[in-house]
Amino acid sequence: MKRAITVTVNGVTHHHEVEPRLLLVHYLREVLGLTGTHIGCDTTSCGACTILFNGLTAKSCNLLAVQANGATILTVEGLAQDGRLHPIQEAFWEEHGLQCGFCTPGMMLSALQILARNPDPSEAEIRHGLDGNLCRCTGYQHIVNSVQNAARRLKAEAVPAIPVTATAQSAGGKGGR
Ligand code: FES
Ligand code: FES
Repeated sequence: MKRAITVTVNGVTHHHEVEPRLLLVHYLREVLGLTGTHIGCDTTSCGACTILFNGLTAKSCNLLAVQANGATILTVEGLAQDGRLHPIQEAFWEEHGLQCGFCTPGMMLSALQILARNPDPSEAEIRHGLDGNLCRCTGYQHIVNSVQNAARRLKAEAVPAIPVTATAQSAGGKGGR
């Protein structure tokens, strides 16, 4: 029997009836049409499906849509605001932090959490923070450079790493990997 859920994604609140077995990643991609959240494995290991769930990174292939009832979610589609790329997107662009781009949405959302917790991370801290995200194209150095570039941009612009719309309901929220 279907269950009613209410989920706020990228600042927009949605009401749907979903099968209890529907994975959150399929809800985002197939019900909401937000195909920037990718599926790269069936073992919860690649991180291509990473989103922010109540302000914390989560692998959306490892959650059911019904578990998102009442949650606030940020996907890659919610990063650009008012027609302007988020600093993390500008940084990946400038540093050539991607090749095919398949891992990039998950990389960027994990990077946001790294930068929200530590605005000035070392290279080792960045690599540790991204260890749940696999890239099949690059040697990771450009991705690390991108996160360092984003840290500089966020500091210069004095803006929070995570957009406010992604954290509005984060108090007491669940999440993590
Ligand atoms: S699709 Fe690979 S971790 Fe979710
Ligand atoms: S850029 Fe292709 S998988 Fe990372």
